[in-house]
Amino acid sequence: MSYFADASPDPRSHIKTLMRIGYTMPSAISDIIDNSLTANASNISIYSLPSLAEPNISILDDGVGMSPQELIHNMKIGCKDPSDERLRGDLGRFGSGMKTASFSQARRLTVFSKRQGYPMCAAVWDIDQIEKENTWCLEILDENEILQHPLLLLNKEMIQGTQIVWEKLACLNKTSHSLDTDTVLAAALSELDSYISLHFHKFMEGKEKRNFFINNKGLHPIDPFMTKSPGYQEGRSEKLRCKGGL
Ligand SMILES: Nc1ncnc2c1ncn2[C@@H]1O[C@H](COP(=O)(O)OP(=O)(O)OP(=O)(O)O)[C@@H](O)[C@H]1O
Ligand SMILES: [Mg+2]
Repeated sequence: MSYFADASPDPRSHIKTLMRIGYTMPSAISDIIDNSLTANASNISIYSLPSLAEPNISILDDGVGMSPQELIHNMKIGCKDPSDERLRGDLGRFGSGMKTASFSQARRLTVFSKRQGYPMCAAVWDIDQIEKENTWCLEILDENEILQHPLLLLNKEMIQGTQIVWEKLACLNKTSHSLDTDTVLAAALSELDSYISLHFHKFMEGKEKRNFFINNKGLHPIDPFMTKSPGYQEGRSEKLRCKGGL
């Protein structure tokens, strides 16, 4: 008689596979921004300040946020079924982007979130801890730990919002052939500026305009279709039908 053995992946090696999904730094941040847009954020701010002993990157939004229960669920890899129907405007699909994008860039991911009517909450994936324990040990911070966290930017007075924090950054790995930390980060942020301005240009203007910032500097759209350039001609439009009308 056959039987089923538990062959779930070993967390210590599985995490190494997840860290190697082919993201660049701008494409990883774009996955985080997709979530902010889906959460209806009006303001999306990226911070990475120079000259820190322990450099980090934060992506802060003022979208709907998550309740403590939702956050714990959403920290799981594959927290949503790709075959489930999604709401119109939901840019997600696999229930993994926030985690896999983060693991490709940083060994420590902290998510702070606040949903209207719920207390602020925070959860941490630390790859060093996962490797040490060889379990998917998600750390949940208590109220004091959240409020005293040195990297917290979400304001206690904010009704809603989410902050993603990346620490122990892969691009600054001491064994990499990098220049000094500030030079590497400055180059990465400059590339990020043009990448976001191009990829999210349609969210930077029009009726549903959102504001994007990197270290408090506002970003401006780069329209690859040059619709505002003299001589631009609108081509013929074609209607395509697909499931759900999306
Ligand atoms: N900034 C945010 N604000 C509110 N909720 C968020 C935010 N980021 C993530 N979430 C919640 O966490 C869930 C998991 O996010 P994740 O990016 O891992 O997967 P996804 O967006 O559902 O799918 P995909 O893998 O295609 O990105 C989201 O579906 C959303 O409910
Ligand atoms: Mg996503």
